[in-house]
Amino acid sequence: MCGIVGCKGVDNIKEFLIEGLKELEYRGYDSAGIGVIDKEDLKVIKAVGKLVNLERKLKNVKFIDPKVGIGHTRWATHGKPTEINAHPHRGEFSAVVHNGIIENYQEIKRFLQEKNIEFISQTDTEVIVRLFEYYYEGDSFEAFKKVLDRIDGAYAILLITKKEPQKIFFAKKGSPLIVANNNDKFFFASSDAPLIGYASAACYLEDGEFGYVDDKIHLFKDNKEVSLNLKPLPTNKESAKKGGFRFYMEKEIYEQADVLKENTLGRNTKEGIKFDELDKEFFEGINNIIISACGTSYHAGLVGKYLLERDAKIRTNAEVASELRYRNPLLTKDTLFIVISQSGETADTLETLKMAKRAGLKTLALCNVDNSSIVREADKTILLRAGIEKGVASTKAFATQVMTLWMLSNYLSNKNEYEAINEAIEVTKVDGALHEKIKRLSKRYLHGHGFFYIGRDIFYPLALEGALKLKEISYIHAEGYPAGEMKHGPIALADPELFVVALLSKNILFEKTKSNIEELSSRDATILTISSEYIDMTDDFIKIKETSHPMVEFFEMMVITQLLALEVAIRRGNDVDMPRNLAKSVTVE
Ligand code: AGP
Repeated sequence: MCGIVGCKGVDNIKEFLIEGLKELEYRGYDSAGIGVIDKEDLKVIKAVGKLVNLERKLKNVKFIDPKVGIGHTRWATHGKPTEINAHPHRGEFSAVVHNGIIENYQEIKRFLQEKNIEFISQTDTEVIVRLFEYYYEGDSFEAFKKVLDRIDGAYAILLITKKEPQKIFFAKKGSPLIVANNNDKFFFASSDAPLIGYASAACYLEDGEFGYVDDKIHLFKDNKEVSLNLKPLPTNKESAKKGGFRFYMEKEIYEQADVLKENTLGRNTKEGIKFDELDKEFFEGINNIIISACGTSYHAGLVGKYLLERDAKIRTNAEVASELRYRNPLLTKDTLFIVISQSGETADTLETLKMAKRAGLKTLALCNVDNSSIVREADKTILLRAGIEKGVASTKAFATQVMTLWMLSNYLSNKNEYEAINEAIEVTKVDGALHEKIKRLSKRYLHGHGFFYIGRDIFYPLALEGALKLKEISYIHAEGYPAGEMKHGPIALADPELFVVALLSKNILFEKTKSNIEELSSRDATILTISSEYIDMTDDFIKIKETSHPMVEFFEMMVITQLLALEVAIRRGNDVDMPRNLAKSVTVE
C-alpha cells in the first residue's frame, strides 16, 4: 500500500511533500521520492530505504520557483525496491506517482517498446508516464484521458508535466486518493493524515473520478465535469492513521477485502490463475511439497496442505519450522520447499529455507516484504501485497497467505475458481451489524477456564488460527483442535465453563462436525457455533452466508474469529496492537 502526496501553491513544497510522506510512513515502504516542476525544469529525487535517505539527498537541492510537486512512498509489488523502481517515474517532460497495479502493463510496455520508447524500470507504473508522453500532442488533459482509457487495474495517480507546469493531473480507481484546497493552495494524499492542518475539508475521490487542478479543482466522472463532494477532514492525525478505528488490528481486519483484491489482481482472471512470478517449468519434476512456517503463517500453510493435495494431487506436508529444522528431515530433490512469512525475517523459517537450499531443493516464498531475508534467499517469491501489517496479531497477512495458496493450488491443477475467489473476497467485507453482534456476544466469554476452537478439514487450521488470535491478544487460554479428536480426551474438560467455538461448514463433513458439537453440548460445555445452518444444542450462534464453496465459508468464519478475539481483548482492556511478550517479527530462535 504505497503512499501518495501532491501539492500546488504551497509556500514550502519540499517541506509539505516530505512531512506528508512521513505521515504515511505507517503504511510501510521500501523507497521514496518526490518530483517538482521548478520554473521550467522537472526535478525528480528518489532514495531507497527510509525517508531520512531522501531528506539527506534533498538537503543540497534548492528549488528556485517550484510550481507543483508530487511525492511517493513505495511498497514493492512489481520490481525490486531500488532507486530506479522508486517513484516518481519520469519521462522526457513529465513525472508520475501511482498506487495500485496496472494489470495490462506488459502489453502496453511491449506496444511502446515497438515504437522505440525505452523503459528503465521494472515497474508497471512507468507505462503511465511513457504512454502519456506518447499520446501528448499539445493537450495534456486529452493525453491523460487517453492513458486512463488504455490502462486496466487499480490506481491512484498524480501526474505533472513541464508542458503545463501549473497543473496536476489526477485519477482514482481502486486505490484511495483525496484532494483538498485552501484558497489558491491545493493538496493531494492517499489518506487524510498529511492534509490535516492544511485544509478543513476534502474530496475523497470515488472510483472512476479524474481531473486536474490549475486555479481550481476540475473533477470529472464519465467524461462530464462534476461538483466536488467535500467532507470535513479529521482533526486528530493519530486517529486518522488508524482510519478512525480503535486499533490498527481492527483497521486491518476491515481492510482485508481490499487487500485481497490487491492480492488477486492480475492473478485471479476469468481465464484462470496467472502468476507473473512463476512459470510451469519451475514445477516440473515436483512430486512432493513441504511447507515450512511459524505461528499464523504455519496455519495458512496447513490450509495449503489440504488444498494442494486435494486439487493439485501433490503430496504436501506443512511443518512448524522450529521442529523441521532440527529433526533432520528427508529432503529429496523432487520436493518443492515453500516458506510462508509475513515479515520475511522469522529466524526458524529462514533457517529451514537455507537447509532446503543446501539440499538442492527448489524453493518458493510467500512473503509480504520484498527484499526481506527470506525473499532474497528463495528461488521464487509470490508477494502477498498485504501492505504493512502494524498489528502484532496477524490478520490481513494470513488472509492473503491463504488466498495465495488457494490460487497456487488452482494454478497447479489448472482449476478455475474465479467466481468463488471473488465471492470469498466479498464475504471478507466486515458487516457492521455482525460486528455489533460480536461486540455484544464477547462479554459472555471473558472468564471461564479456556476455549476450544474446533473444526474439520480446512476448518481445523482455521480453528488453530482462531485460538491463536484469542490467546495472543486476550491472554485467555485457547486451543484449536480437530473436532473429531475431542472424544479422545479433551471432552473430559467439558463443563459450563469450557467455551467451545465450533466452525461448522455446510460443505465439508457437516453431519460429523455437528455430532461432535452435540457430544460437547450434551456434557454442558458452552458452545458458540458459526455456520450457515442453525443447529439446536448450541448456546450462541453466528450465521454466515449460504454458499456452495468451503473456502467462501472459510473466509467469512475467519473474519468472525478475528473480530471475536478483538472484542474480548478490548473488553479485557488489553493493548490489542502490542500484546505483552510478543514482537511483530521473531528474528531470534
Ligand atoms: C501471528 O498473529 C503472530 N504474530 C505470529 O504467530 C506470526 O505469525 C509468526 O511469528 C510468523 O511470523 P512471519 O509470518 O512474519 O514469519
